[in-house]
Amino acid sequence: MNRFPFAVDAAVPLYLAPMAGVSESPFRRLCRRFGADVVVTEFLSAEGIRRENAATLDKLRFGPDERPIGVQIFGADPQAMGDAARLVTDVFAPEFIDINFGCPVKKVVRRNGGSGCLRDLDLVQAVIRAVAAGTHLPVTVKIRSGWNEEMRDPVTIGLRCQDAGARALALHPRSRTQMYTGRARWEEIAAVVAALEIPVIGNGDIKTAEDAVRLHRETGCAAVMVGRGSFGQPWIFDQTRAMLEGKPVPETPGMERRFEIAMDHARMAESYEADPRGAAIEFRKHLGWYVKGIPGSAELRRRLHAVESLGEVEDVFATYLAGGLRYEPETAVA
Ligand SMILES: Cc1cc2nc3c(=O)[nH]c(=O)nc-3n(C[C@H](O)[C@H](O)[C@H](O)COP(=O)(O)O)c2cc1C
Repeated sequence: MNRFPFAVDAAVPLYLAPMAGVSESPFRRLCRRFGADVVVTEFLSAEGIRRENAATLDKLRFGPDERPIGVQIFGADPQAMGDAARLVTDVFAPEFIDINFGCPVKKVVRRNGGSGCLRDLDLVQAVIRAVAAGTHLPVTVKIRSGWNEEMRDPVTIGLRCQDAGARALALHPRSRTQMYTGRARWEEIAAVVAALEIPVIGNGDIKTAEDAVRLHRETGCAAVMVGRGSFGQPWIFDQTRAMLEGKPVPETPGMERRFEIAMDHARMAESYEADPRGAAIEFRKHLGWYVKGIPGSAELRRRLHAVESLGEVEDVFATYLAGGLRYEPETAVA
């Protein structure tokens, strides 16, 4: 039995990482189908939730097939965070509430949100306590290794989170100043695993199922969280599960199957969004990821980046499969 504070069958649960603009309901559902055991919403502002901002509440919608799901909130005002946790619990009833202490973007850290909190561990604890007081659900946290290199101390941060009542902790072992540069220091995940009682979820730089298994073996983490490695390849979860269990690993889908998966995903996105054209435009980034690495795909990619409806996506795929887009366009001579 794993030690997670909510019901999840897998011995080593595989998480889809919270990712703004990516880990939305359709992608979360798709990843659940492809073997992700737990999903987390993208980060949502506590202020937005508390004020019942329509765009924020819209992002809180999820389906029963996404459970177990965590709703991730951010903010530096303990009171607002507590209020947001209460509303999310009452109205949306996810399996857990996750607090974002990792977001590095300026707009968020300027107000001490996300990784901005890591400069003040008393604040981190006050936020966790306020959220825990606002909900009966388990409260988990996601952190980076520190605000900057001088303040880099994931073990101390982890212990303080645990003391304040966090029931699980995900670590992306980079400092805020690193943003996404350098490499994730998995050895820091191992150190936090050794120091904490609560389950630690390892995250950072998993690009393949092999990486996920290696992260687990090298750190002893209780769960593995995949972010960018899921872009355009949700099957990474099934492959990781098989590899962890020593079973035959499902093959990476070929081109036709990839297109089918992309269309399934696109259909889910279209039915989730109110505006079909907006949904298609938003979906272009996923299309780019699905066709990454396909030989001679420059023209295919160019067409996909211009689609304004699902029907167009289907046509572009069909034309490509029929051999109609195999040749790169001639370079225009100025
Ligand atoms: C586009 C994008 C959006 C992200 N949004 C969030 C977010 O909303 N909340 C969060 O905790 N982390 C966010 N992250 C960080 C990821 O959850 C993860 O910690 C990071 O990407 C490292 O994992 P990876 O190497 O597997 O991608 C985001 C990352 C990316 C690339």
